[in-house]
Amino acid sequence: MKILPTIYITLLSTTAAFAPPPSSRTFNTLHSTTEAAIASTANDEVNPGDRDILVRCASGKQVERTPVWLMRQAGRYMAAFRQYSDKYPFRERSETPSMAIELSLQCHRAYGMDGIIMFSDILTPLPTLGIDFDVVKGIGPVITTEVRNVEDVKKLKDAESVNFDETLPFIREILTSLAKEAEDANTSLIGFVGAPFTLAAYTIEGKSSKHCLRTKEMMMADENGSSKAMSLFLDKLAAMIGNYGCHQIECGAQVIQVFESWAHQLSPRQFEEFAKPASQKAIRIMKEKYPDVPVIYFANGGSSYLELQRDMGADMIAVDWSVDMAQARKILGPDIPISGNIDPTILFGTKEQIEQAVRDCIDKAGGPGKHLLNLGHGVMQGTPEEAVGWLVDECKRYRGKEA
Ligand SMILES: *[C@@H]1O[C@H](CO)[C@@H](O)[C@H](O)[C@H]1NC(C)=O
Ligand SMILES: *[C@@H]1O[C@H](CO)[C@@H](O)[C@H](O)[C@H]1NC(C)=O
Repeated sequence: MKILPTIYITLLSTTAAFAPPPSSRTFNTLHSTTEAAIASTANDEVNPGDRDILVRCASGKQVERTPVWLMRQAGRYMAAFRQYSDKYPFRERSETPSMAIELSLQCHRAYGMDGIIMFSDILTPLPTLGIDFDVVKGIGPVITTEVRNVEDVKKLKDAESVNFDETLPFIREILTSLAKEAEDANTSLIGFVGAPFTLAAYTIEGKSSKHCLRTKEMMMADENGSSKAMSLFLDKLAAMIGNYGCHQIECGAQVIQVFESWAHQLSPRQFEEFAKPASQKAIRIMKEKYPDVPVIYFANGGSSYLELQRDMGADMIAVDWSVDMAQARKILGPDIPISGNIDPTILFGTKEQIEQAVRDCIDKAGGPGKHLLNLGHGVMQGTPEEAVGWLVDECKRYRGKEA
């Protein structure tokens, strides 16, 4: 990352520089500010929030109503967010505490989701192993460190001795502040990590990839016994990610979501052989140290092998939008807490369509309070801002078919 000139950093750290931009204030007034939320509670419409409803739900408890947060809820669809994303490159935004904190909070101030998620990226911890990356506008993440063979893996830093406060000092600062903000806002704080396979594939390919051919070749070489580079790399990543999740918990995260963002690249067999054991290891590290902190596992594009996800060791399985919620519930069985899975493009529909999609999803998951509502993928760029508010409000308001 480019080092910022001191003057610049000083400027960024002042609170004044990070007051919500005027446009978001205007918008807030028009939509669901805290005041609006409280006002509508008065006529029994929208619940004001609840410090731990999301945490209790992710732990598998039945709750009073269905809680909700959205993947990529802090994103470019918000004008207030674009005021930063248009100006500052990704790593600067996510690694400068004052900015990352502000970007994490904007959506909660506007829509009152049941959780605040740290604004960061799944690639953020890669430098702790000596893997360098940048996020280039128009291209996405670019990783310059080559990892192709056993030698390359052995050259990486030891996963067990990573000191996250030294290598990623901003994480503690961001999460400590957000923990306080979440408490004041009567909501939960969500942390997250990328799953080992996804981080391995990103590194091996060096950037977004349509087919992940190099990664697949490495998996095949692993299978025929000609090189153990893939399993060694996954094992190292799993240890680092498990420890990184623990670090986030120690800094205040109350729930951890594991993102297997590239699960769509995997056949069921490849998932079972490579991605799954590595994710299980990362999750086990977190659960052994912090058994009471729920872990949610999300495999994007992994709903075609949902039956293989029953024993991830996570407390909750989040599903993508390509499976019907009732079907997902059936495949996972009644005992596995579930999250998901509205198609994000619904947010481009009418208010009625959005509200109907929320009610359908809740009904299919077993009724209010029986699952954690989310989209089946991140909020898309260009999503109308008010649509996100309609979705959140309807989820909090809905009392079920009988009601
Ligand atoms: C937090 O939310 C719960 C549930 O809606 C409510 O009962 C409680 O009063 C709220 N607490 C604060 C401090 O706002
Ligand atoms: C094993 O698989 C890799 C990747 O497909 C290939 O390059 C290599 O030649 C194979 N080795 C053997 C011994 O079959």
